[in-house]
Amino acid sequence: MFDWTDEYSLGVPSIDAQHQKLVAMGKDLQVLLQTHAGEDIYDELVAMIEALTDYTRYHFEYEESLMEKVGFEDLEDHKRQHREFVAKLEAIDFNDIDQDQETYAKDLLRMVSVWIFKHIIGTDAKYQTSFIDKGIE
Ligand SMILES: [Fe+2]
Repeated sequence: MFDWTDEYSLGVPSIDAQHQKLVAMGKDLQVLLQTHAGEDIYDELVAMIEALTDYTRYHFEYEESLMEKVGFEDLEDHKRQHREFVAKLEAIDFNDIDQDQETYAKDLLRMVSVWIFKHIIGTDAKYQTSFIDKGIE
């Protein structure tokens, strides 16, 4: 689910590093679920999801500030996509996690991995040339 390959690399080192970190955080969650099947891992799950949400917010702010800096034209649409994803993460009901931890967490992870990779390839890729041309590293 969370396997980084070079096709996701945008050639902007700071962005690639942050994307890799997000993917690694997703992978950690995936491994936690796989290695503790049937166990109560509620506290770890909640802590890791909160950390992922925090890091996502940080990363989106970073990207948005660079898009502003280079005068990227599609900024508003890109920001809207970021807001929608953060809203999804914020809408996570931790009571639902407690009802059926494994199913809920697996569905959640699938949503997160699909969103992240689709967003990198389909949306982040649009600023790639402007960032590289402006010497953003
Ligand atoms: Fe983005």
